[in-house]
Amino acid sequence: MKLNIALLAGDGIGPEVIDQAVKVSDAIATKFNHEITWKPALTGAAAIDAVGEPYPDATHDICVASDAVLFGAIGHPKYDNDPSATVRPEQGLLKMRKKLGLFANVRPTFTFPSLLDKSPLKRERIEGTDLVFLRELTGGIYFGEKGRRDEGETAFDNCVYTRAEVQRLAIKGFELAMTRGKKLCCVDKANVLETSRLWRETVQAMEKDYPEVEVSYEFVDAVAMRLVQWPNSYDVLITENLFGDILTDEASVISGSMGLMPSASVGTENALFEPIHGSYPQATGLNIANPMATVLSAAMMFENFGLQEEGKAIRAAVNKALDAGFVTEDLADGGKAYGTKEVGDWLAANI
Ligand code: IPM
Ligand code: MN
Repeated sequence: MKLNIALLAGDGIGPEVIDQAVKVSDAIATKFNHEITWKPALTGAAAIDAVGEPYPDATHDICVASDAVLFGAIGHPKYDNDPSATVRPEQGLLKMRKKLGLFANVRPTFTFPSLLDKSPLKRERIEGTDLVFLRELTGGIYFGEKGRRDEGETAFDNCVYTRAEVQRLAIKGFELAMTRGKKLCCVDKANVLETSRLWRETVQAMEKDYPEVEVSYEFVDAVAMRLVQWPNSYDVLITENLFGDILTDEASVISGSMGLMPSASVGTENALFEPIHGSYPQATGLNIANPMATVLSAAMMFENFGLQEEGKAIRAAVNKALDAGFVTEDLADGGKAYGTKEVGDWLAANI
């Protein structure tokens, strides 16, 4: 297969982890006879520094013309403590999601047998955990009208959802559940929020189209609690943008390291693959960041093209590295820690 992939390394550790994912993907291309053309483009603080805009039109054009986007991370500390900054790297990410129509963020949480004791949760609570969050990504409070009034003394962020936005996300949820454990949890706050009542009513009306899927409705606060009590009781969860942002960070540490969890953001035309960890500025350039989440994001990318064997080969190499202890310092646990680049080389050599 010929693949054109937009490569948005971004900020912080983004470029380092992206390099490893490229290396591993190229090894896959050699082994399975694919031809990958990488199209690097600027985003985040790196793009603000270069052209004054976190998601430049030139980058958007490259993304639109590509078959998929592989993304590193964005964010820079110089913006974090400056509420008055008018251009922020994160705006680039939101703009990109909106302009590319990436309305569904797929965030799996699964465990690795060799890491069961690294989780902050007890082994018996997490064994068998294999869940997927589908977070709505282009609506809700992140995109509603926001502003200040009363001379800046009052601030507001509106949360708005349309039935169509809920439906298209829920369709993905039902369809994914059908390929897995056939359980779907709609996470909302329908006891308080009108948008949540629209979510619940919309999903309830869709149940009849998927009679095999067992649907539950749970309040977001209860889900936050159950996720650390019985994460293995969930299969597919669908939720709105803000709830999904928070719960997927919570879920991501269950596996033992946030540095392991990949994600996909999909829409009707394009798809983007990225690790769920952020730009980890403290580690920038130190060759210590765990590249596995980005490498596993590349696995999701291949699988999204229908290339299941390629995805499997990457997952197998990652599992082999974990079993062999060929890991970065976040997973080394007092043992030998390898560099970002060395782990990338090892994974590529083991494809
Ligand atoms: C994420 C990130 C982003 C989000 C930020 C950087 C805007 O936290 O992908 O979860 O909140 O969506
Ligand atoms: Mn987040």
